[in-house]
Parts: sequence; structure tokens; C-alpha cells
Amino acid sequence: MHRGKGMKFVGDSRIPATGRKPNIPKDYSEYPGKTEAFWPNFLLKEWMVGAVFLVGYLCLTVAHPSPLERIADPTDTAYIPLPDWYFLFLYQLLKYTYASGPYNIIGALVIPGLAFGALLLAPFIDRGPERRPAKRPFAVGFMLLALSGIVYLTWQSAAHHDWEASKKQGAIIEGAEFDKESEGYQLLDANGCISCHGAELTGGAAAPSLVDTGLTPEEIANIAVKGRGGMPAGMFKGSDEELEKLAEFVSSLTAK
Ligand code: HEC
Repeated sequence: MHRGKGMKFVGDSRIPATGRKPNIPKDYSEYPGKTEAFWPNFLLKEWMVGAVFLVGYLCLTVAHPSPLERIADPTDTAYIPLPDWYFLFLYQLLKYTYASGPYNIIGALVIPGLAFGALLLAPFIDRGPERRPAKRPFAVGFMLLALSGIVYLTWQSAAHHDWEASKKQGAIIEGAEFDKESEGYQLLDANGCISCHGAELTGGAAAPSLVDTGLTPEEIANIAVKGRGGMPAGMFKGSDEELEKLAEFVSSLTAK
């Protein structure tokens, strides 16, 4: 008798087929006309499919470069980071009052822990041989609950996020090349301008960049003294001569 003959095929992997010996794969004779040589036929096909995917991914990465933001600035505490889309539901969970602040542990550990713990234990809890969804109300119910929860939270997170501000805070701003020992920079430092406009003068959450403003020295001197919009007046406290030097320096800042 051929090996494997008389063996029953059972669709459910959890039910051992009678007479099947462990770790012995089914015989080729079980699949008449459906076999092929591993080398080179099968392997060649695999490689061809692999090559198509590789080239496809290559084209995608060239067409869509990574959406990089400016270099991370550890002193910028106003930057609001956002996780990737597949973690948005967990991120959203932390915004609810029952899962944030003093209850942070609930949103960060308890709820995700219960959900993922249940997922881990599912094969041990749900051991019935039934496969049809209609016959497994608890498993299917919890799956639908989890799925709708994830979809809802992800959607809420995306809908309530300020995408405009996000784009702005991460925008890459071309810096200017200048000498930090120069008198102009020293004056900006001494008058506290860099606390808002940044040590590289490229701005931050509190103020715009001072590079390529397109303003004349007179206009800059005016803003430094009188302020404008969100910038308070009276920031500059030096002499007129210093003000002129500072304004000249700022107006000369152009991107590298
Ligand atoms: C408290 C934070 C803060 C400080 C300190 C500060 N600025 Fe500003 N600055 C701002 C803000 C905010 C704006 C944007 C003003 C607006 O809404 O138009 C700005 C705008 C400017 C602009 C116009 C930029 C443009 O592209 O239009 C100049 C020039 C400028 N500041 C120079 C200075 C100088 C010089 C100093 C130091 C004497 C200084 N700033 C200190 C917050 C600040």
C-alpha cells in the first residue's frame, strides 16, 4: 500500500485525522497531476513573483519618498508628535478623561492589556470544533466589538487632529549660514530674540523664521522695537546703533 493511502482529509486542523502519523507530510500521490518539481520549476516561479514585488516596492519608494519632517529639536516643547495611523486608536484612547490624567494607567495599560491579552488567550478559551461564524457568537461578537472600536477611535483621532498645524510644526525650513560670533547674532542673543525665533533663527512653535523674511532693515528695526501681531513690543533694549546692526544682520539672512 502507498504511504498516505486510506488517510482521511479533515478540514479542521484541530481534529487529528485518524491514522495520521505526526510530522509525516501527506504523500504526493494524494494530489495526482498537481505536483511539480521544486527545482527549478517551483523555485523559478517563486523568484519571478518575488522580483515583481521587489521592483514594485522600489517604484513606490521612488515615487513616494518618506514624509520626513525637520530635524527633531529636543528644546521645542510645543511640538505635538502624532503616531502612525495604525496606532492612532491607542493614541485616541488616551484623550478620554477616564483614560488620561490620573487614570492614565487605564488607557495605557489596563484596556489595551485586556484586549491584547484576550487575543493571546483566544485559542485556549475558544476550543470548540465549530467553525461557522453564526455558531460562535462570543468569538464573533468580541471580534466585531474590537474591530468597530478600533475603526471608531482611529476615525475620531483623524477627524479631531489639526493637520494644518501638524504640517507647519514639522515643515523643513531652510536655515541660513551665519557666524554665531558676529555682532548681529550676539545682539539677537542678548535681546532674547532667539528664545522665540530659535538659536538657528529658523523659528519654532512660538515665532516664524527670521531667514528670508524679505523685509528691509528699517522694517525689521521697527518690528524689533514695536512688535507685531503675536510678537510683543519692546523686545529690543539696546542703542540705536545696535538696533541698526541687528536689523542689517537679520535682513542679510538668506537660506543656504
Ligand atoms: C515672545 C517671542 C518673541 C520674541 C522674544 C521675539 N519675537 Fe520676533 N516675532 C515673534 C512672533 C510671534 C512673530 C510673528 C508676528 C506676527 O504675527 O506677524 C515675530 C515676528 C518677527 C519678525 C517678522 C518676521 C517676518 O517674516 O515677517 C521679525 C523681523 C522679528 N520678529 C524680529 C525679532 C527680533 C529682532 C527680536 C529680538 C529683539 C524678536 N523678534 C523677539 C515672537 C517673538
